[in-house]
Amino acid sequence: MKIWAHRGCSQLYPENTLLAFEKAAALFDRGLTGIELDVQLTRDGEIVVIHDERIDRTTDGYGFVRDYTLSELKTFHIHSGRTEAERIPTLTEVLDLIEAPMRKGFRLNIELKNGVYPYPGMEEKVHALVERYGLHQQVVYSSFHARSLSVMRSIDPHVEIGILDGRVSDCLYKLKGGCGAGVLHPAGWGIDLPKDELAGYTVRAWFGGHLYPEKPTGGKMNLQALEDKGVTDVFLNEPEAYL
Ligand code: G3P
Ligand code: CA
Repeated sequence: MKIWAHRGCSQLYPENTLLAFEKAAALFDRGLTGIELDVQLTRDGEIVVIHDERIDRTTDGYGFVRDYTLSELKTFHIHSGRTEAERIPTLTEVLDLIEAPMRKGFRLNIELKNGVYPYPGMEEKVHALVERYGLHQQVVYSSFHARSLSVMRSIDPHVEIGILDGRVSDCLYKLKGGCGAGVLHPAGWGIDLPKDELAGYTVRAWFGGHLYPEKPTGGKMNLQALEDKGVTDVFLNEPEAYL
């Protein structure tokens, strides 16, 4: 089972921050496969790393990411319990931070958060940035928005693309529909096909819905049970507890 840090090490540190990504990159030597993060676009077209379309939940600000310029967004704080607050990072800042481990094999899943607002041009911008770093071999792009993945595939026939959905059957349906994806990113609760129908696919499961999803009853998640269902990778908020 391959383990990824979901939004960085987001159980113990604020999600999608340089702090959470730094902690995840430090786990590369312990076998962490990579980091998953979410990107949105600012009013001035910069790629920022934040899960929600709004900044209210994770910062001390209010409103939509797309209504602020990057410099305006940088004035908001993400409290981490340390003296210095974290700020919403750009994708460039994250790539600078984890470039060295990525050159040694550490991976990055960039989730294009364009299901609510399509952010025209986002695919080209993100692809061009990763291209500048020469890190495409280490990156997997994903989205719930199949049309966006088609755009990414038309930009580059070689990059790895994962289709996100709740059920793995829906992921497979979208994949076979020609969105350009090659791997499946279903929810952990959505493995609704027999293992033999998933044979040959990379199946990366995520666990959303509530705080600390991988530890719902105080015990650890059973990774073996997931592997027995055909899951090959998991995105965990607290990967350090499982490595
Ligand atoms: O990419 C897997 C997972 O992160 C998708 O759900 O809401 O956590 O972005 P969400
Ligand atoms: Ca995500």
